[in-house]
Amino acid sequence: MQQEDMKQHAYLVALQQSFQRDWEVEDNLAELKELAQDAGLEVINTFVQKRSYPEPATFIGRGKALELREIVEEESLVIFDDELTPAQQGNLSDLLDAAVIDRTQLILDIFAQRAHGHEGKIQVELAQLNYLLPRLTGKGTILSRLGGGIGTRGPGETKLETDRRRVRKRIADLRGELNKVQQTRRLHREGRKNHGAPLVALVGYTNAGKSTLLQALTGSDVFVADQLFATLDPTIRRWELKHGRWVYLADTVGFIRKLPHTLVAAFRATLEEVVLADLLLHVIDASHPQSLEQQGAVQDVLKEIGATAPIISVYNKIDLVEHPIEVREPDCALAAKTGYNLGRLAAAVDNFFSDRYALRQYLFPFDQLGQAHFLRENAHILDETFVTEGLLIKAEVDQKTANVLQSYEHE
Ligand code: GTP
Repeated sequence: MQQEDMKQHAYLVALQQSFQRDWEVEDNLAELKELAQDAGLEVINTFVQKRSYPEPATFIGRGKALELREIVEEESLVIFDDELTPAQQGNLSDLLDAAVIDRTQLILDIFAQRAHGHEGKIQVELAQLNYLLPRLTGKGTILSRLGGGIGTRGPGETKLETDRRRVRKRIADLRGELNKVQQTRRLHREGRKNHGAPLVALVGYTNAGKSTLLQALTGSDVFVADQLFATLDPTIRRWELKHGRWVYLADTVGFIRKLPHTLVAAFRATLEEVVLADLLLHVIDASHPQSLEQQGAVQDVLKEIGATAPIISVYNKIDLVEHPIEVREPDCALAAKTGYNLGRLAAAVDNFFSDRYALRQYLFPFDQLGQAHFLRENAHILDETFVTEGLLIKAEVDQKTANVLQSYEHE
């Protein structure tokens, strides 16, 4: 209970423009409330201001801002559902006499709390600094009001207000570091390519249960085939399916409606796993009242980043759903947390790949070993042995590779 009392209070404000329906604004506010609670805030009240367009200086209008000033408690946070310009944020902060942030800043903060892994942390900090930099001009009230709380996690601790140049330098340093990390990541990706196993990526709305599913499917043991790889890239695991077949299973950053563009750009490298994947598992929180909208938001982001791989929908948290839901194969309904129906998903993924990849054996005579390289590049190698006639390789191949290497096929 005590912890509940200590939560920072927040007020949410949305602008309803003439083209927006009531339910649209309500939905957005409901989600903003969930995000605020996720960030550890206690939402005291929400407000909607109707205007035909945003007021350039104060977004909701000076009169409304002064009205809110009477209601908002001291030391609390006012969160706007839309992105504010640096000037609007500064003016509102003065008028309301409170700390003011917008949806983007709240989301950045949540990502800062959740970012696991070196690369993720750097990306979030970069996104935060880029977002804050233009807001450091003027009176500097924004940051001093925010202190060390929500909206300032990460870079807030580095006392940004003291020097914009320091922020720029930090951005440059982080970029350099990110380049290095991404270089390593590229090497890992090359390494994975040589293993030739297919890549399956988990995608889904934030909190859908992706990490829980990754853990449940691959076990608590860290992938040990390559320790270094496992520690530097903790979100990719080896997932054993049937008949010795295995795939790489990658966790990805959770998607959010109105995902700030700065963040989509920042996470592009991480999302490359999604773009390059052979199969996507779209993890859906089936128990969430806004489940459908969340699915739509994920599809939008997938389109935006150019992901085209086939998708299996995974309706998760089925233990919390009262009425059974109908799913059509290969989609499945399961509970990652209890382990219910995990086998169905494994079977669906296994079927997906056995429909596309065939088990073949090839024999490369000693004077044509070069051709084995093509196979290694393009297939999943299960076994290699030298025999008297040459090199015998058992592999899982797709139709294209099978066509190219047909003459080397060996019964
Ligand atoms: P992001 O990192 O935000 O993208 O979240 P995520 O999709 O990785 O979700 P995560 O695995 O962290 O799970 C979110 C919450 O849902 C946790 O509290 C889990 O314990 C819970 N959860 C996951 N799967 C299930 C399930 O099958 N049933 C129930 N009841 N809860 C679940």
